[in-house]
Amino acid sequence: MLSSFALLHVACRGQIDYANITNSPEWNCIHTNDSETMFPTNFAWGAATSAYQIEGGWNVDDKGPSIWDTFCHEGGRLVFEGQSGDVTCNSYELWEEDLRCIRQLGLTHYRLSLSWSRLLPEGITRHVNQKGLRYYNKVINDLVASDVLPMVTLYHFDLPQALQDQGGWKSPEIAAIFDSYARFCFESFGDRVKLWITLNEPYVCAKLGHEDGIFAPGVKEPGMAAYLVGHNMLRGHARAWHSYNVLYRAKQGGSVSLAINSDWAEPLDPASPDDTAATERYLAFTLGWFAWPLFVTGDYPEVMRSSIEVRSKELGYQEGSRLPRFSKDEPSLLGTADFFALNYYTSRRVKPGECCPGVLGLKSDQDAEGVVDPSWPVCGVSWLAVVPDGLRKLLKYIKDTFNNPAVYITENGFSQVGPVDMEDVQRCGFYHDIIQEIARALREDGVDVRGYFAWSLLDNFEWADGFSVRFGLFHVDFSRPERPRTAYRSGREYAGIISKYRSQTMVNI
Ligand code: GAL
Repeated sequence: MLSSFALLHVACRGQIDYANITNSPEWNCIHTNDSETMFPTNFAWGAATSAYQIEGGWNVDDKGPSIWDTFCHEGGRLVFEGQSGDVTCNSYELWEEDLRCIRQLGLTHYRLSLSWSRLLPEGITRHVNQKGLRYYNKVINDLVASDVLPMVTLYHFDLPQALQDQGGWKSPEIAAIFDSYARFCFESFGDRVKLWITLNEPYVCAKLGHEDGIFAPGVKEPGMAAYLVGHNMLRGHARAWHSYNVLYRAKQGGSVSLAINSDWAEPLDPASPDDTAATERYLAFTLGWFAWPLFVTGDYPEVMRSSIEVRSKELGYQEGSRLPRFSKDEPSLLGTADFFALNYYTSRRVKPGECCPGVLGLKSDQDAEGVVDPSWPVCGVSWLAVVPDGLRKLLKYIKDTFNNPAVYITENGFSQVGPVDMEDVQRCGFYHDIIQEIARALREDGVDVRGYFAWSLLDNFEWADGFSVRFGLFHVDFSRPERPRTAYRSGREYAGIISKYRSQTMVNI
């Protein structure tokens, strides 16, 4: 019998016709032989969301605007059909509906993010929005009372506009301001929250927000701003981690990390030294950019720095390094991750770049082109080639490269576009297969995987794609004021997977 993933290949290659996939008799959620699959009893079975994508309530109860409010309202043409997260799932009012979904899935963990400008409308602790504080206290208390452990992200793309007005992540002062926000959160919620993510995907904030200008704050300064932003985000993370370590760890006993997004990448032609070198650069400019400082050297990968220097020379760029250096007088980066937080969605085969020789920019610095293998199905959004075994390979790479850290997969998912398909059998197959790959990483490769968070609990505001792309385990009807949530078939399936593996006992893998 073909595995569900093999069927996915058959059904999804090229342009997808969702109606036909749904009607195909081959599509079902019955699994391949997975009798050997087991997970540790304390494995975290989670789902993830972020504040701006689900909360709505963008200007109620004293909340300050964030850069995504501004980007959607003023730079609206950049977001699909001028949509915004003004209301989205309205989780600010409908949190108890979300809790119902979380309980229905049987999650052990739920990853949410805090809206910085809901808690601190101007971004600084001088002015605290008590209603915002009350909201997150309720969310966290309800989770704990339901036996669901919260993983809390302090920053998921939504900088307070007041701080953007002072230079945002480009300003060196932001690191200390972020640290003071982080301390405020540790102090307020750390008695109940034991898993913290300081920043979500600094790569995306840096590149999409400050190089390409397609995410808030919409800055387009190729080859310059992204490195500075990434640098200040890392400085802010390091300060927050050290604050936790010194002030809170002993009494709160939690763990702090930073969520790094990365594709799996392998050479287009494994025999080609050029493709191999390009693959090394591809990984260095994404995963390595943020993981090397935390796990390996306290600094950027050497290949990243040297590629940027080479390109700068070629272009006659004379104003020092475009990739900043960490100061010895600041808290060090090395060792500031208590676990590896990985967001994985897709894979690429890599060859040297064809883009823009002679142009200042991250892409030309990186000099690597990611290609989608024709055998990989692209389901839903165009960048998301579905490659479950890429996750296993990436996990093994992380184990070998970063000294076998504990790993949480903090995001991973499968998107749907076009007409809503509640019987999303292809996503069922995807979840089944990705979980099998994690099991293999645990069992056969000895990777210390501690948990898995599906992206996402709910259909939500998918950034520049607005509501046109749906990642939810629950469908949300955005046309109705009550925003009803209904489980997709994949939601029911994920609940079944969780219940099955939680009922097994396996202490050591
Ligand atoms: C990640 C991001 C999430 C979500 C996901 C799917 O980059 O952290 O917020 O949008 O991608 O595209």
